[in-house]
Amino acid sequence: MINMETKLGPLKLINPVLAASGTFGFGEEYASLVALEKVGALVVKGLTLKPRQGNPPPRTIETPAGMLNSIGLENPGLEAFLSRELPRLRDAGVAVIVNIAGDTEDDYITLARELSAEEGILAVELNLSCPNVEKGGILFGTSPGTVGRLVKKVRRACSLPLIVKLTPNVTDITELALAAEKGGADIISLINTLRGMVIDIHARRPFLGNITGGLSGPAIRPVAVGMVYQVYRAVKIPLIGMGGIMTAADALQFFMAGARAVAIGTANFIDPFTIPRLISDLYAYLESQNLSSMEEIIGAAHQQL
Ligand code: FUM
Repeated sequence: MINMETKLGPLKLINPVLAASGTFGFGEEYASLVALEKVGALVVKGLTLKPRQGNPPPRTIETPAGMLNSIGLENPGLEAFLSRELPRLRDAGVAVIVNIAGDTEDDYITLARELSAEEGILAVELNLSCPNVEKGGILFGTSPGTVGRLVKKVRRACSLPLIVKLTPNVTDITELALAAEKGGADIISLINTLRGMVIDIHARRPFLGNITGGLSGPAIRPVAVGMVYQVYRAVKIPLIGMGGIMTAADALQFFMAGARAVAIGTANFIDPFTIPRLISDLYAYLESQNLSSMEEIIGAAHQQL
């Protein structure tokens, strides 16, 4: 009997394949294609207290084996999320994780508190890693002291499981992971995008309206696997791994590096059926290996040393 259920500290999921924040919106555009209730969890687009229009265009560009984005956290804000998006997601039976971002520490605290009072939200993911905004996001995510303090404050305000999403744009990601764990995070998700730039040689200026953007897709996968591997050795709390996962074989690298779940991002833009395909391919992998759950391979790459 194969069991795809996944436990991440206090969080229980029907399977370990999540839709990464910002690549599945609030689920609406995918609802006619994918059975949303079968996705391990949908991590919604980064939510802020007030609506945000995001950055000036162009906001995306394809790159070798990936893409750059500089969306700038465009989202409808808390009120519209609660009145419009959440009831629809609840009715559809979707496991919802809300990625939250803010300009100030108080924004994060208020969002976490308000969301904790709502039915139908599984967990909150603190976005301390968006590289495309002038305030908040990555600015809260690169110093262990700031991460520890903010996570501690949000922890007090949040009765839901708390995930902290880390940036790879640092010298040593384990220091940030340790700070998040010490601050009271239940789970760490990693990695967000790597900051980068494309220059339009005809216009002789940066291509993106925001000058720089975040690189995602297969190009960053080895970086992501390496960081999951490092962080797994440093902390005790569970990890959600992401970064360029296109196939079940890619996902297996993350599980073997130590992730208990994976999130799919850029691949959703190429093939909207990536998540259901991965769930069934992972199931087939377990069957072929005579394994009863992913549990048996989590961190396997560490045991070979
Ligand atoms: O620009 C953006 O909205 C990106 C968000 C993120 O990377 O978290």
